[in-house]
Amino acid sequence: MATQCRWRMEVQSSKSKSSFTSYIRSCSISSTTTTTTTTTTTNVAPCDHVIVFGGSSGIGLAIAKECARKKNSMKITILARNKNKLDDAKNDINKEVSSTGTTTKVEAISVSVSDYDALEKIAGQIAKKEDRIIIFNCAGISYTTEYDQIPIEVYEKLIQTNLIGSMYIARAFLPHMENGCLVFCSSAAGQVGMYGYTAYSPTKFALRGFAEALHAELIRDKPGVSIQCAFPVDTDTPGYKEETKMMPEITKILNATGGLARPEDTANVMINSAFAKNPNFQVYFNPIGWMLSNLTAGMSPVSNLGDAVAQVALSGLFRLICLFILNDWWITIRKFRGKEKDENKKKGDPKID
Ligand SMILES: NC(=O)c1ccc[n+]([C@@H]2O[C@H](COP(=O)([O-])OP(=O)(O)OC[C@H]3O[C@@H](n4cnc5c(N)ncnc54)[C@H](OP(=O)(O)O)[C@@H]3O)[C@@H](O)[C@H]2O)c1
Repeated sequence: MATQCRWRMEVQSSKSKSSFTSYIRSCSISSTTTTTTTTTTTNVAPCDHVIVFGGSSGIGLAIAKECARKKNSMKITILARNKNKLDDAKNDINKEVSSTGTTTKVEAISVSVSDYDALEKIAGQIAKKEDRIIIFNCAGISYTTEYDQIPIEVYEKLIQTNLIGSMYIARAFLPHMENGCLVFCSSAAGQVGMYGYTAYSPTKFALRGFAEALHAELIRDKPGVSIQCAFPVDTDTPGYKEETKMMPEITKILNATGGLARPEDTANVMINSAFAKNPNFQVYFNPIGWMLSNLTAGMSPVSNLGDAVAQVALSGLFRLICLFILNDWWITIRKFRGKEKDENKKKGDPKID
């Protein structure tokens, strides 16, 4: 039966800032600054089973907890590698379930998205064709530093986890799905090549290519299953905290002025998009994300008239805005390099020359 769900997305109020980078950040979903509330009504399709890869931490855990708060009962399965983290996460999710009084069941399964045989076995055990299944793939890793500081083996590791892991999940689970949604977690760094992301960005750009091609095939093969590609903004998760430890100074400067999204806000946007009756292919999180998604739409599927009109009518304007943003980034990077050179000269260290 069709039900309606109201959701709240807190959007940081836009303030006048000195740079376009600041503007991007000022549009981030944030709880740390003054907020305005936007309320949207979404048509929701009931779901029997939510499967969350990377459900033991960060965005994945927030998705599982937010689903556990829903008033209708369902199965929630979280998957990741570390058994202890999974057990803790399962306890946290069960606490949410007990406060709702539903009969939602929570399972935790230890597996790596790099192990195709294990994924195929698990899919056969937990996914049932008669269920409406929503899979969120939030298993992912990052490595943010300059290209010449990245150990060579990191490239393969990131591609294996972020890209091939997603391909494995699709191959293993789609044969057991007739109805539902498969959500891939790309990133804003999957739309824009930013300083410090030479290992990470390619995996997230490629993920979108995979999602687009898969979407086209499912039109014939499985019309009841939707594919989504989400492009989250920076979100305050354990993974993000780890990433900032190695983040280059320039990346920090480019990121400095903005807030971080709360995991539950990022999770709610993804949940509301995936639970919709007609899920959009692209999931974006703020006005700049909306602009980037429409500017970079190319031949991406579109299932919403507003986006189609924006893509046709506003692409030129969006490109102009982005040229200013790019210029702002390059000025910041050149200034930083100049400052670094001066400092090294003072120290008598000609490293940068
Ligand atoms: N946080 C952000 O700012 C941000 C922004 C844009 C996009 N994203 C993307 O969102 C996703 C989630 O990020 P997050 O910040 O929530 O990360 P996180 O806090 O580090 O959580 C990552 C999750 O993935 C699991 N995982 C990692 N490698 C795995 C593997 N090989 N097999 C199975 N599970 C694996 C981790 O558990 P185990 O280590 O125990 O396996 C953990 O549960 C990632 O794809 C990330 O690239 C994040």
